[in-house]
Amino acid sequence: MLIRHVKRADIPSISRLYFETVRRVNTHTYTAEKILAWAPRIYRDTFWQQRLHRYTVFVAEKEGIIIGFTELARSGEIDCFYVHHAYQHQGVGSALMARIEQEVRSRRHPRLLANVSVTAEPFFHRMGFAVVRRQIKIQRNRAFKQAVMEKRWRTRHRGVRTANTRLTQRAPQARVSHQGS
Ligand SMILES: CC(C)(COP(=O)(O)OP(=O)(O)OC[C@H]1O[C@@H](n2cnc3c(N)ncnc32)[C@H](O)[C@@H]1OP(=O)(O)O)[C@@H](O)C(=O)NCCC(=O)NCCS
Repeated sequence: MLIRHVKRADIPSISRLYFETVRRVNTHTYTAEKILAWAPRIYRDTFWQQRLHRYTVFVAEKEGIIIGFTELARSGEIDCFYVHHAYQHQGVGSALMARIEQEVRSRRHPRLLANVSVTAEPFFHRMGFAVVRRQIKIQRNRAFKQAVMEKRWRTRHRGVRTANTRLTQRAPQARVSHQGS
């Protein structure tokens, strides 16, 4: 399995994967009418193309097939996170999460944030996330339960570790904060 940045040629696969994963996997935890509101049809490629401007998108590829994808906003928030229905529980989600965490850490963000479906909450817990709050999202007049979840870690600023130890500031503008892990 290869985790890489998205290419434009991946978009039709992403579009279909999203639709089929919602219709076949999320259906275990949401009612049929909610599933219809969540994924009413296979969206046009332009819908996904526009999102490429807003997100860093990673895909998981195996033998030429797109088997998962995820979108990361500049803020460090995960939006879409979907694994192909035929490749569930095979480590695809873990591999995508590892890549996204690497990306966010390289941007010096202290945390990853996600609005998580009921279906995916156990997976996010397993990945080290904790629930910050619970909320209801309205989509096409249907109410969806979501958990806002985050994963925090300690950050380094200019080589200075921001743990709860005594710190030496190496640059006047270096800000030191304490982040839980
Ligand atoms: C949630 C999802 C992305 C997980 O992807 P995945 O490739 O199946 O996850 P992995 O195989 O990497 O699983 C990693 C760990 O999480 C656990 N896990 C995954 N899904 C789980 C579930 N529904 N319940 C309990 N544990 C789960 C696995 O058992 C595994 O634990 P282990 O390392 O101890 O074996 C996938 O199930 C999916 O696409 N769900 C539907 C779409 C969705 O709701 N996306 C999120 C929108 S916010």
